[in-house]
This record gives sequence, structure tokens and C-alpha cells, in this order.
Amino acid sequence: MNSDMNNLIHEIKKIKIDKNAVILAHNYQPPEIQDIADYVGDSLGLSQQAAKTDAALIVFCGVHFMAETASIIAPGKKVLLPNLDAGCSLASSITATQLREWKSRHPKAVVVSYVNTSAEIKAESDYCCTSSNAAKVVSSIPYDKEILFLPDKHLGKYVQAVLNRPLKIWKGACHVHEKIGDVDFGLAQTQHPKAEFLIHPECGCSSSCMLKAEVYFDCKGVHMLSTDGMINYVEKSEAKEFVIATEVGILHRLKKVKPQALFYPLSENAICEYMKMIDLEQLYNALKFERYEVKVPDDVAEKARLPIQRMLELT
Ligand code: 13P
Ligand code: SF4
Repeated sequence: MNSDMNNLIHEIKKIKIDKNAVILAHNYQPPEIQDIADYVGDSLGLSQQAAKTDAALIVFCGVHFMAETASIIAPGKKVLLPNLDAGCSLASSITATQLREWKSRHPKAVVVSYVNTSAEIKAESDYCCTSSNAAKVVSSIPYDKEILFLPDKHLGKYVQAVLNRPLKIWKGACHVHEKIGDVDFGLAQTQHPKAEFLIHPECGCSSSCMLKAEVYFDCKGVHMLSTDGMINYVEKSEAKEFVIATEVGILHRLKKVKPQALFYPLSENAICEYMKMIDLEQLYNALKFERYEVKVPDDVAEKARLPIQRMLELT
């Protein structure tokens, strides 16, 4: 590490204390951001941290919908996103107008939105969920209710299969995880016969494992997990090799958790460009100049808070 970087790290730590700030980072963030964060986690963990922090300033190293979620559940705090271009292809796969139109065709349906959505979408929803609690959230809804699940089709199909319950599913997808589905999973199993396979349910290959009719690989030793679910699994597992099907940023954290294990990304190209948009300099500028604030209009935030709170109460 060069001295410029050391100075930057020193300054970030100093301003953070002076301003009573907390740095929250997602598991896909670059290693140097993960290393300086106060908390690194998945979407659910980050929401829970935002809800309970005593800090006055939350610097969110992740993507825009995550900062919005923090702003909705921590209304008295100032939430900063160091780079406003950090979006999410999955969150962009449905607009509020499209959702309103879908709802108008299913007036009695309960709307369950994945956390990877805009605040406006959450404001139109009954429940929010993340990859770690989607099945739990859906199973809390009476069985006779029609459910509109959005926007991720792979997560939707996964939940549908786990619960054996029909859902109306929006056809959105994450451009990074969907492409992982193109990789020859069966070949990876032949190449790594001793490895456990950990798959994020957003992956194009995930639903194939669950929908027996479509199985094209052996699902033994395959686990569908959120990013924190993968960390927890590896921590407890006796296995020494793991194939990881999600964005490669998580490998930094996994290697820290179990340095003696071998981790193989199912696809080395699974890189989310949005998650790599924040660097140390932007983090420093965010803290110093308190930019860029993400604030959801009060009327939208008030409506969007309810589905998030319902989810947090269930988990
Ligand atoms: P997790 O909540 O599992 O971390 O997933 C968030 C995400 O954006 C996955 O692409
Ligand atoms: Fe969005 Fe996909 Fe990036 Fe996750 S990996 S933030 S779902 S674009």
C-alpha cells in the first residue's frame, strides 16, 4: 500500500469519528472499501444496520436502491452515496407506472417486491423481501392470496419452487447474475468434484436446480444462499473447496473468513460495474463534503417504510 493510500485511509477514519459517521458496505464492494467499512453485509444486514445505528451520518458503499432503503428506514439520518451513478439493472427492470398497470389487472393481489427496487416501487408494495428472506416473507402471506412477485424472475421461480406455491412473477433480471446461467454448471461439477456449490438465487442457473423438470445438473452439494448466507455457510462448513455463483466481489470476504479454503468463481466475468463505482477517494470526498445525499421525498418514504418494516419484523 503506498503512502497516498495510507493517508487517505487515515483521513477517512479521522473524519468518520469527527462527524459521527458509519460506513456500510455491500459484500460486492472493492476490497479496500470492504476493509475500511464498519459493517460489510448483504441487503438485509445492511438495512438492519441502517435501522439501528446511532451514527448521524450513514455513508453507503453500495448501489442507489440500498442508500434509498437506508434513508427510508432511518428518516432522521443523513444518507450519502459516494457515487450517484451506482445504479442496478435489476432495480431498473420495472417502473412504478408498469407496476401500477400490473396491479390494476390484479386488484386483489398482494405485492411482494425484492429490495432491489426503487423507493417508488416499494411505496406501491405490500411487502419487501431480500434474497435471504424471500421465502419466509411469501410464506407469511395467507395461501389463498394471489401474489405479484417482482422484479427478479429467477428469485421468483426459486421461491415458487421452495414453497410449492404459484406466484405471478415479473420478468426482470440482473444482467450479471443472469449471465452466470450461461456457464456450464455440470462441467464445473466435474472439474471440482469435492466442492460445495453456493448459488445466489438471482442466478440464471438457480431456478433450474429447484424446478425438477428442468434439472440439468446434480443438485447434491448445491446451496441457494444470499451473499451473507454464503459467508455464514462457509464459516460453518467442513468443506475445503467452494464454487461461488455470484458477483466476484464476495471472494474477498470469503477468503478472509476461511483463508485455508479454495474458492472458485463459477464465472470470473461476474462483475457488477455498479458495485465497483466507489473508490477510497470518492469515499473520502463523500465524508468531507457530505455528498451525495440520497433523500426520498417524505410522501414516498412514508408509504415505502411499511413494506420494509413488515419484512424487518419477520426476520
Ligand atoms: P444480497 O442481498 O444477497 O447481498 O444480494 C444483493 C444483490 O444486489 C445481489 O445482486
Ligand atoms: Fe443490481 Fe445485479 Fe449489481 Fe446486484 S449485481 S447490484 S442485482 S446489477
